[in-house]
Amino acid sequence: MREVGIGIAGFGVVGGGVLSILRQHAGDIEARLGGRIVVRRVALRDLEKERSIDVDPALLTTRLEDLLEDPGIQVVVELIGGVDQAFELVCGALQRGKHVVTANKALLAARGDEIFRLARARGVDVYYEAAVCGGVPIIRTLREALASDRITALHGIVNGTTNFILTAMAEKGEPIERALAEAQRLGYAEADPTLDVSGGDAAQKLCVLAQLAFGAALLPADVLTEGIMALKPEDFRWAREFGYALKLLAVARRCGPAEGAAPGAQDQLEARVHPAFIPAGSLLAGVRGAMNAVVLHSEALGASMLYGQGAGAMPTGSAVVSDIIDLTRNILAGSPGRVPLPPAEPLVSVRPHAEVRC
Ligand code: HSE
Repeated sequence: MREVGIGIAGFGVVGGGVLSILRQHAGDIEARLGGRIVVRRVALRDLEKERSIDVDPALLTTRLEDLLEDPGIQVVVELIGGVDQAFELVCGALQRGKHVVTANKALLAARGDEIFRLARARGVDVYYEAAVCGGVPIIRTLREALASDRITALHGIVNGTTNFILTAMAEKGEPIERALAEAQRLGYAEADPTLDVSGGDAAQKLCVLAQLAFGAALLPADVLTEGIMALKPEDFRWAREFGYALKLLAVARRCGPAEGAAPGAQDQLEARVHPAFIPAGSLLAGVRGAMNAVVLHSEALGASMLYGQGAGAMPTGSAVVSDIIDLTRNILAGSPGRVPLPPAEPLVSVRPHAEVRC
């Protein structure tokens, strides 16, 4: 049976999920692919740290270069998080003609443009389904299912930790600190949970979505961002009394050219993340716990919604593995370099914060 070798960099919550799924579903995956996915190396920071799943010690390394230098590794799976080291690893892989799967929204939000340009130049693929909304297939939907359509706006709940916290505060009156500690225990929160509660994680995800949906070169600093730390029990009481729910929403909206712009000027994109009162009977108000949901508005299809588990080892791991499977299928078919990336040049400009109306 033909084989495709992969190297996994980073072995935290998501890495454990990836390996479990590859093992548990190996038979099905091989039958679908007519080939085998073989994990050749697993790079981690601390060899002594307890792991959620057993790994053959011969595969383990602390050197990321071992993945890059191994000719048997065709796909590098980047799960180390953060920006600088991950950027070096991803670019190193692409430069060597290796494909990349990444779950790293911080990296793509900050340096996606450079990464996609390099991938195009080298004829290799970058897949990143797990970077936004965990196991919910929002990237594939934008990249493939809606490729024929024109997205006019999207909004939704893209951070599982804050939705978990807001649900606990609204339904059980729990203090924010206790709900956050539980979200950390369940593996939903970022290594630095400030990113979740400040809205920063949602802003990074919005940048990744906006690159694909609108062709926007949107950076996290361009997103008007307010987190959930200032919310008080009385905010939830007011919401209930007037028939609303409180949710942390990420919103991106095409809003026509800037006022006074020359004819033919690009549309502007408004991007914001903030707590919002939404009608208690709406679909988004029913999104509880660590679930995510994104509503897409597009010209041909109209409104559509994707909903599912936005965080955690197995949901996020399943998105990573689905990317590995797609890549493996292309490699075995001899047709890599086929995944459509966001447009190389921005199709919309970004509306300045001062002009954004919430
Ligand atoms: N901390 C993130 C969240 C993990 O809670 O949504 C998934 O991106």
